[in-house]
Amino acid sequence: MKKVDVLLGLQWGDEGKGKVVDVLTPKYDIIARFQGGPNAGHTLEFDGKKFVLHTIPSGIFHPTTKNVIGNGVVIDPCILKKEIDQLKANGANIDENLLVSRKAHIILPTHRLLDKASELSKGKEKIGSTLKGIGPTYMDKTGRNGIRVGDLLKPDFKDIYTKLVKKHAELLKFYELEYNLSELEDEFFVGIELIKSLQIIDSEHYINDALKEGKSVLAEGAQGTLLDIDFGTYPFVTSSNTITAGACTGLGIAPNRIGEVFGIFKAYCTRVGSGPFPTELKDETGEEMRKVGHEFGATTGRPRRCGWLDIPALKYACMVNGVTQLIMMKADVLSNFEPISVCTKYKHQNQEIDYLPYSINPEDVQPVYESVKGWKEDLTKLSSSSDLPNEVHEYIAFIEKQIEIPITIVSVGPDRKQTLFREAVSA
Ligand code: GDP
Ligand code: IMO
Ligand code: MG
Repeated sequence: MKKVDVLLGLQWGDEGKGKVVDVLTPKYDIIARFQGGPNAGHTLEFDGKKFVLHTIPSGIFHPTTKNVIGNGVVIDPCILKKEIDQLKANGANIDENLLVSRKAHIILPTHRLLDKASELSKGKEKIGSTLKGIGPTYMDKTGRNGIRVGDLLKPDFKDIYTKLVKKHAELLKFYELEYNLSELEDEFFVGIELIKSLQIIDSEHYINDALKEGKSVLAEGAQGTLLDIDFGTYPFVTSSNTITAGACTGLGIAPNRIGEVFGIFKAYCTRVGSGPFPTELKDETGEEMRKVGHEFGATTGRPRRCGWLDIPALKYACMVNGVTQLIMMKADVLSNFEPISVCTKYKHQNQEIDYLPYSINPEDVQPVYESVKGWKEDLTKLSSSSDLPNEVHEYIAFIEKQIEIPITIVSVGPDRKQTLFREAVSA
């Protein structure tokens, strides 16, 4: 029986998951998103075109690969409709190739309002949420009040909806947020009709049956390990399990059915939203990274905070995910940074440690850096990893030695073609 490979982010999201899933899609029969929702923005670039996907898996442009939105995902019907309209207009075969789990939860307009109200009430302590209603929707899921795709097909769906909205209206009174729900509802119900017209499946059966038939499956993560609800920088996290274990619960696959785990990281670090970030650069170097790397959020357009690579955090992420192969993104952005610093340890309570402690707030940890020689060459035109400058090979070797996992792909630009393989991968 085949196993499910997993591809996920090792930092605070936006590592380049969408690009690599798109690149690897020809090797797979099925691409399946397992958690998160439209807080995600996964960018694909090919043939001079650029697409940002929020809910739909990044294999959607392949003519025969099936794309599954798993039970662990939360769906905003309004955003999904916009996404589908745009993809259809660009030739994606949504009718044949998109499948949606009956058990995925629905984001209501009032979930978005609750997200906004909650953030406003937190003031300076706000999470920096994408305001897509993610937290409130997962709260209703775990609170056993949520609405699932399967409920949309019930004759009394409107009653189920109204009951939950009433509850939300009570909560919104507490926050004193002003809103006009009927405006939001028109678009919502158009989106609901669209979802009802899609292929709705029992995705746990679909995926396990596919494995039995020898089909290959790649599970696509959203966000990143340091945003995981359990293992991230809590409370500045998202509301789902972004780690490999999330692929099991978010798709209905057993842990012993997991195969390769591709862990993606940027050659440096970024974070969007609030929360601790030990290696953040608040100076011109950070500004330069943001400029060269176009570090602005794919979903919200917010500037991303930038900083050096953080090895203790990366090691931690590899540990909780069981990463088998590393994928290093945006190596091209580091050209002309001389020297490159890498955080290999933290100073914590007057000691040097090489692991992630409970708190990584600035008062608790300070990064300890090692310098690595930089490179001046433009990497974006390279087509083989053997053509990479020596200093890049050294940077790769430095990271591999620290983490003890091979870097099998190096990305040198946003386009599909700007991807250099260094063996392994598979499927
Ligand atoms: P995701 O959320 O993990 O899919 O990542 P995003 O799409 O949010 O952010 C990654 C950004 O970097 C996108 O704008 C990509 O087009 C871009 N990108 C991906 N890989 C590379 C790369 O190797 N080099 C450069 N310069 N940009 C990249
Ligand atoms: P992709 O899949 C980067 C961040 C938000 C905020 C926190 C909580 O594109 O990598 P939420 O809306 O989930 O309640 O926000 O998590 N965040 C992301 N940051 N990439 C993402 O997704 C993110 N999804 C959420 O900025 O700090
Ligand atoms: Mg993103």
